Amino acid sequence: MFSFFLASFLFISGATAKKHPFQFEDDDYIQYRTLPDHRIVKWNITHYDRSAIAPGYLFTAPYWTHDGDAETDQWVPYQMGPHIFDQDGVLVWAGSAESDNRPSFDFRVIDLATPGSPGSEPQQALAWMLFHEHFAPETNGSVIIFDSNYNHERTISIPSGEIDTHDFNVIDNGSKALMIRVSRDVQPLIDFGQPEKGARIDVNGFIEIDLLAGGNTTAEARTVDWQSPGRVGLDESFVTNLTYLHPDFMHANAIDKNQYGDYLLSARHTSTIYLISGQDGHIIWRLGGKKNNFAKDFDFFGQHDARFIAVNETHYVISFLQNGAIDANVQEPVSSALYVELDIVAMKATILRRYMRPDGGSTERRGNMQTLPNTNVFVGWSWDSYISEFSADGRLLMEAKFSSDRHDTYRSYKFPWVGRPSYPPTLLSESYGVNGSELSTVFHVSWNGATDIEYWRFFAQANSTSNRTEIGIVQKEGFETSFIARGFMDWVSVEALDSSMEVLGASSSLRTPRPKYWTGETLPKPDDPETFLVAYSIKAAAPRDTERLVGIFIAGLFSSAVVWTFFWYRHTLKRYGLRCYSNAVLASAGYLPVSTTGLNSPNLEGEMPFLVEKVE
Ligand SMILES: *[C@@H]1O[C@H](CO)[C@@H](O)[C@H](O)[C@H]1NC(C)=O
Ligand SMILES: *[C@@H]1O[C@H](CO)[C@@H](O)[C@H](O)[C@H]1NC(C)=O
Ligand SMILES: *[C@@H]1O[C@H](CO)[C@@H](O)[C@H](O)[C@H]1NC(C)=O
Ligand SMILES: *[C@@H]1O[C@H](CO)[C@@H](O)[C@H](O)[C@H]1NC(C)=O
Ligand SMILES: *[C@@H]1O[C@H](CO)[C@@H](O)[C@H](O)[C@H]1NC(C)=O
Ligand SMILES: *[C@@H]1O[C@H](CO)[C@@H](O)[C@H](O)[C@H]1NC(C)=O
Ligand SMILES: *[C@@H]1O[C@H](CO)[C@@H](O)[C@H](O)[C@H]1NC(C)=O
Ligand SMILES: *[C@@H]1O[C@H](CO)[C@@H](O)[C@H](O)[C@H]1NC(C)=O
Ligand SMILES: *[C@@H]1O[C@H](CO)[C@@H](O)[C@H](O)[C@H]1NC(C)=O
Repeated sequence: MFSFFLASFLFISGATAKKHPFQFEDDDYIQYRTLPDHRIVKWNITHYDRSAIAPGYLFTAPYWTHDGDAETDQWVPYQMGPHIFDQDGVLVWAGSAESDNRPSFDFRVIDLATPGSPGSEPQQALAWMLFHEHFAPETNGSVIIFDSNYNHERTISIPSGEIDTHDFNVIDNGSKALMIRVSRDVQPLIDFGQPEKGARIDVNGFIEIDLLAGGNTTAEARTVDWQSPGRVGLDESFVTNLTYLHPDFMHANAIDKNQYGDYLLSARHTSTIYLISGQDGHIIWRLGGKKNNFAKDFDFFGQHDARFIAVNETHYVISFLQNGAIDANVQEPVSSALYVELDIVAMKATILRRYMRPDGGSTERRGNMQTLPNTNVFVGWSWDSYISEFSADGRLLMEAKFSSDRHDTYRSYKFPWVGRPSYPPTLLSESYGVNGSELSTVFHVSWNGATDIEYWRFFAQANSTSNRTEIGIVQKEGFETSFIARGFMDWVSVEALDSSMEVLGASSSLRTPRPKYWTGETLPKPDDPETFLVAYSIKAAAPRDTERLVGIFIAGLFSSAVVWTFFWYRHTLKRYGLRCYSNAVLASAGYLPVSTTGLNSPNLEGEMPFLVEKVE
């Protein structure tokens, strides 16, 4: 009765103590600071035509300020950096720890040639650009490359004050990469009508580096090094406020190369896309801006991510994001993604397709546009990591953004990806119970970065030398999957299975600790899984709030004061009250064990005895 009263009290206080959505309970927050753990940014994804979207995973790198998020109640550490999500917004890989929790840009899949094997098939790899160290702009950034086993393949230096973190564009079958150059230069201000004066100006350009030779970015190692002075005048700029600390008159943000060896450079503050000769570096033509060379039927302003789509001797098709704005200077209220055709003989530019930002908003900075292999168009609108996918003919198929407005991303991409971590799945097991005869074992399993997991298969052993016994298979549910087995299961392990039950990887065997709160004289002994009849195996997968409430109720009814104190302290009893459920309670909560025949039931030939299904 007393514990029931306590449970009711917690129920009421839990229901009324509503938190600010961006604030975290103290104990959660401390936990996140002391454990290598992540509180992942959540998505709100809406699919309008699931069958028409391209296969693949979402690649994004949440960040807030360039100098890194301070540890406050609002900004939780280890939310930044490269992340992979599936099409439902379920986390596949969190790379915050791999990026030192520093802002990361242009996180994407690249095709990387293998040094020493010219002509061999390029391998898929992950690449992202790591900003300089927190609050230390003089430190260098870097490009980090991971292979598909999440092994650190290499780091490429991004010397501060020479190269920036906008673009890491791998070209020529993975053998070269293009990056944006930025340096501070003293320029005479003749173009601003002040010929006698000089000012420090940010000067742009691009470099090409040789990835087969390792990707060295030093001046001597660059295969191409192009700079704007003498070629792009300060008078081309739309941002000419000389009271800025470092007039960033050009702000180049994307660089691409075509099969003729010429380069496409996008500069936001001149609102111009430049074609630059690969022969001698002269500017062949300008699209847009104050010195535009084309007759065109459209305008653009503050654009990003200009790319070659198709090129022949007379016509170029390019794509780019028409932001329509440079920060607060909004020229076109709704941003859009564009394909335009350039007739470079008649010097005519024609709009082929325009994809409007679905929410009618303005992407005042950042963003990108990606043409997917099936011709769908994927657009990263940057703010709140807002993304959308269109069919080529302009139908909106999907839109999504982070559920909170705490983080943006520089770009977003979608790629097919096969991640096979070289490290094993992470398994945690804990035992709970009030006496030695009625224990249960709770498992939590995840595998950061692994794709294609459909099921988790759990094992236990009677002792360190006995054979392992399968104790259950559950469907993968989210990044982390939980499983509860009746009995004190020890020497436990888990296998990740794909949809055809092939083993993708396995954990090693680990010991399950005795209940931490155990007060009995004699410690409980592990059960022998061979002989212990597991009456049911259930998956702790009820929605968080329901679990919490039902768990509190059940715990209040059945648990002893000792257990109750533990639950109260742990604050997370949602997972641990479940062993007390009768099948009737389970069924009324929407869960039903498919089979209660226990361990000796026939194995997986067509049937999955321990699978738990949600009853709709
Ligand atoms: C999720 O996104 C959809 C589509 O943009 C929107 O209608 C809905 O209100 C959003 N839901 C939340 C909880 O933000
Ligand atoms: C940055 O990189 C440059 C060129 O690679 C190197 O000379 C310099 O020492 C680096 N600076 C720091 C702070 O690491
Ligand atoms: C890239 O590979 C294709 C096919 O293997 C080949 O035809 C082409 O010449 C290569 N391009 C470069 C720049 O190496
Ligand atoms: C980079 O290239 C330069 C010049 O070719 C060379 O001196 C330097 O040792 C190289 N650095 C690395 C890390 O390979
Ligand atoms: C120029 O920039 C300074 C500093 O950001 C600002 O205070 C000023 O209003 C700007 N002037 C114009 C004309 O935009
Ligand atoms: C180049 O592309 C344009 C437009 O797609 C096409 O009309 C033209 O015939 C092509 N020229 C050649 C030489 O293939
Ligand atoms: C152990 O606890 C269970 C559930 O509370 C109870 O049914 C059982 O009788 C207890 N066994 C012993 C030996 O105390
Ligand atoms: C280990 O367990 C097996 C049953 O799986 C049993 O036959 C064996 O005696 C046990 N060994 C020890 C050392 O307890
Ligand atoms: C363990 O499994 C192997 C192969 O299935 C079998 O030969 C052996 O007898 C088993 N050992 C025990 C102690 O059950």
